[in-house]
Amino acid sequence: MGTPVDPVPEVIRRALADASDAPGYPLTAGTPALRAAIAAWVSRACGAGVDGLGVLPTIGSKELVAWLPTLLGIGPGDVVVVPSIAYPTYEDGARLAGATVVRTDSLTSLGPTPRVRLVWVNSPGNPTGRVLPAAHLRKVVDWARERGAVVASDECYLPLGWSAEPISVLSPQVSGGSYAGVLAVHSLSKRSNLAGYRAGFVAGDPALVAELLKVRKHAGMIVPAPVQAAMVAALEDERHAEEQRERYRARREVLRAAFTAAGFTVEHSEAGLYLWLTRGEDCWQTVDWLARRGILVAAGVFYGPTAGQHVRVALTESDEHIAAVAARLA
Ligand SMILES: Cc1ncc(COP(=O)(O)O)c(C=O)c1O
Repeated sequence: MGTPVDPVPEVIRRALADASDAPGYPLTAGTPALRAAIAAWVSRACGAGVDGLGVLPTIGSKELVAWLPTLLGIGPGDVVVVPSIAYPTYEDGARLAGATVVRTDSLTSLGPTPRVRLVWVNSPGNPTGRVLPAAHLRKVVDWARERGAVVASDECYLPLGWSAEPISVLSPQVSGGSYAGVLAVHSLSKRSNLAGYRAGFVAGDPALVAELLKVRKHAGMIVPAPVQAAMVAALEDERHAEEQRERYRARREVLRAAFTAAGFTVEHSEAGLYLWLTRGEDCWQTVDWLARRGILVAAGVFYGPTAGQHVRVALTESDEHIAAVAARLA
C-alpha cells in the first residue's frame, strides 16, 4: 500500500543513536550541519544553485503539505489548485485553511480571475507515476508568477526515475534561475526508508521559507534533534539511496511483468513508487478481484473522481511478498 518495509540504513541509525542525548530545544531552522546538508543535496539532486536558496526541515513532508496553505496565510475566498488525480493531502490542507480547491492539470481552464494563491504540482506523481516535462513546469511557474501565486512542487519521488528523468522546479530550466514564488517539498521517507523518523524539508524562495520559519517557530513545528542528526547522515550518503532504488527497480520489473501478463494496462508509471493500472472496469471490481487473490491495492477513486477505473500498486513490499504477488497472478 505504500509504507517502506526495508531496514533503516545502519549509517542513519548510528547518527540517530549518537545524537540521542538531546535535553535542549532543537532549532526549528535546523542545525547549521543540517541546513548545509539540505542545500548540498538540493544542489546535487535538483540541479539548483545554492546562492539565495531558502531551506527548512519539516516533520516529514505530509505535515507541510497539510499546513502549507495555513502557514502562508491562505484562507476563505482564496483558491488552491491541486492536480486532477492527486495525493489527498493537497486538498485536505486547502480545506484546513478554509480555501477553495480546484482540481485541474491545465491552468488555462481556470478562467480569468480566480483568486489563486497556491498551485500544487507533483512530479513524479502519486498515484500515477507521471513525470511532468520541464516545459510544462515552466509554464506553471510563469503563470503563477504573473499572478503572484506560489508554486509548491511536491518532489518526494524525484530520486525514483525509471523510464523518464524527473526534473525539479528548482532546476534553472524550470525556475529560470530565480527561486521567486517556488517551493520544492522533499522527503526522506522513501529515499532513505525514514517514514518512521518523520524527516522532510522544503527548499526554494528565501522570503517564503523565512515566513514559514517564523510561523513554525511559534507553532512548535520542530524536527527533533536526533532526527536532524539522522537526516544529515542520510543526505550525505548516496550509497544506501542507490541500493534502495535498485530494490525498487527490481520489484517494479517483477510486478510490471506480472500485472501485464494478467491483462492489466500500465499507464504512466514512468517514475516513482507505484504502478498505475487499469482493467477498464470500475476500480472496486479490480480491488475485489485482487483481494480474492490476497493482493491489496489502493482504489483509484481515493485520488480523484476521474480515477474510478484505476488502481495503485505500491512497490513497497518485501521481495518475498512481491514474488508471491507474481505467483498469484500467474
Ligand atoms: C506525493 C506525496 N507527498 C508527500 C507524502 C508524505 O510523505 P512523508 O510525510 O512521509 O514525507 C507522500 C507519502 O506517501 C506522498 O505520496
